[in-house]
Amino acid sequence: MGVIEDLRSDRLLFSPGVYVHTPFCERVCTYCAFSVQVARLDQVAYYLDAMTSEYQIKKSLLSRPPRTLYIGGGTPSLLDGDLLRRFVLSMKLKDLDEFTIEVNPESITKEKLDLYRRVGVTRVSLGVQSFDDEILRFFGRSHDVRTATKAIEMISRAGGIALSIDLIYGAGPESDSSWEKTLSALTAVVDRVDHVSGYALTLERKTKLSVLSKRSQGASSSVVQSDDTLAQRYFRLSEVLEGSGFYNYETSNWSKVNAESRHNLNYWVRGEYLGVGCSAHSFISGERSANAFSMARYLAKIARHEDPTEFRETLSSEQELLEGILLGLRCAVGVPTASLRHVPAVVEDLVCIEGEYLTLTKRGRMLADRVALELLTS
Ligand SMILES: C[S@@+](CC[C@H](N)C(=O)[O-])C[C@H]1O[C@@H](n2cnc3c(N)ncnc32)[C@H](O)[C@@H]1O
Ligand code: SF4
Repeated sequence: MGVIEDLRSDRLLFSPGVYVHTPFCERVCTYCAFSVQVARLDQVAYYLDAMTSEYQIKKSLLSRPPRTLYIGGGTPSLLDGDLLRRFVLSMKLKDLDEFTIEVNPESITKEKLDLYRRVGVTRVSLGVQSFDDEILRFFGRSHDVRTATKAIEMISRAGGIALSIDLIYGAGPESDSSWEKTLSALTAVVDRVDHVSGYALTLERKTKLSVLSKRSQGASSSVVQSDDTLAQRYFRLSEVLEGSGFYNYETSNWSKVNAESRHNLNYWVRGEYLGVGCSAHSFISGERSANAFSMARYLAKIARHEDPTEFRETLSSEQELLEGILLGLRCAVGVPTASLRHVPAVVEDLVCIEGEYLTLTKRGRMLADRVALELLTS
């Protein structure tokens, strides 16, 4: 397993990474708790200039030049091409191993893809979420299945850019047959896709879905499926993807060999990264920090020439150990057995030992937190 083996011998292979947060969306989806707002075009140039200033100040904190860049959001594909190009060029990044941009089906065009290639994008992450129009409406998405399928075709025809798609399973109205419909549609396009992220729907505070869930007191299954159903959805997704040549290299991520997200792998092995923009997180010299969550607060701080960081923490060695075990378990890299005192009998069925590394079985992946605690406390 190429990259995974390489990471075991050099944990910092793709370190450092830079994350750039774009907080603009066409509308806010019912489940989404990210720092986002409906785009006001007059704010975009100003916000990108603020991030340019922040990056120029903070890049010197990194121990080495960045190896990966991830422009996420929000909806980066809403950004005007010229503004995006100016922003990326201002970062003067060279020799990146990977450059990802998140795009939404309704705002990606051939012209934008062309520009992405010219500024060095190597990978696009497309928010498909579901191949069932009823579920897309429940999610309040701005696209339908036809638009998503056309976007997949357009990106794959453009060539030269790896394609990842995001799916969310377990919405209340998603019946077994609706999920099978999504899986069949996925199978029909899977040759054009290099990577899939599949997330269980999470009910986040202050989202439209959390309000809906409170209103339907007790009937929360109308919003999110039960844990058992979520597990079944996960196993079916894994089965379909593994049948098409993908492997489950992190709990929620499947890829073809060598199409893993290097930027995200760096997070999971606790490599160094710098986040710029509102709500962005960083991990540098053992300190984790986060910027002001709201765009307004972030912009106000930058305008006053203040550091927009509003949260800092350095983990105790005990917390570090737990985090290392948890992240290692979620990922195919695994946990070095040398770092464990012993493997308690209660988790034996949930783990496997491959050489000097302990990883989770498929069932174990559903119980990663429990396994981590058992490994740490036994
Ligand atoms: C940073 S978001 C935004 C990407 C892009 N704007 C989009 O929506 O297509 C990345 C992914 O997180 C997932 N996500 C966001 N909120 C979620 C939630 N409450 N439950 C499960 N997955 C979620 C979605 O699959 C989404 O595509
Ligand atoms: S899921 Fe994506 S498009 Fe929807 S509100 Fe969140 S960031 Fe925006």
